[in-house]
Amino acid sequence: MWHGLDQIPAYSEDVHPAPLPVIAFRQAFAQADAVLFATPEYNASIPGALKNALDWVSRPFDTNPLCEKPVAVVSAIQGVFGAIWAQAELRKVLRTIGAQVNERELVIPRAQQAFSANGTLRDPEVATALRTIVHELLDATCRQAA
Ligand SMILES: Cc1cc2nc3c(=O)[nH]c(=O)nc-3n(C[C@H](O)[C@H](O)[C@H](O)COP(=O)(O)O)c2cc1C
Repeated sequence: MWHGLDQIPAYSEDVHPAPLPVIAFRQAFAQADAVLFATPEYNASIPGALKNALDWVSRPFDTNPLCEKPVAVVSAIQGVFGAIWAQAELRKVLRTIGAQVNERELVIPRAQQAFSANGTLRDPEVATALRTIVHELLDATCRQAA
């Protein structure tokens, strides 16, 4: 789990060395075998803070820690469309950065009803779909290690 998004300043190519929160964010990716992104949708796209943080991670491009990294994207939102546009946008950004993107979609609309009080998904089919994505991430990680 990453909790430092609000510490990341606006991207600037002119800032050297990168701010400490950015270095920590890059290291978190570098140390992860795979990454599961869960995003809400802002104005039919991904939240600006997330895009900004990924812009930092993407440079220098040749050594960016997301290159070839197995990643997947899910979203939960209170509206009815389940943040499907945000997912598509985030996959596009991650592909551009060079990540190995799992194309399976998992959108969870009406998130306020989708989870029980302890945070588990109420719908077993949705829970299975999420498990499938996590297993596929794990498989991709094992293939890379082999
Ligand atoms: C600036 C802003 C823009 C938003 N735009 C959308 C949108 O385009 N589509 C949508 O379904 N919800 C939109 N929302 C609703 C958010 O996705 C909703 O607040 C989110 O589910 C809450 O997630 P959180 O509890 O993790 O903050 C927007 C919210 C904000 C604050």
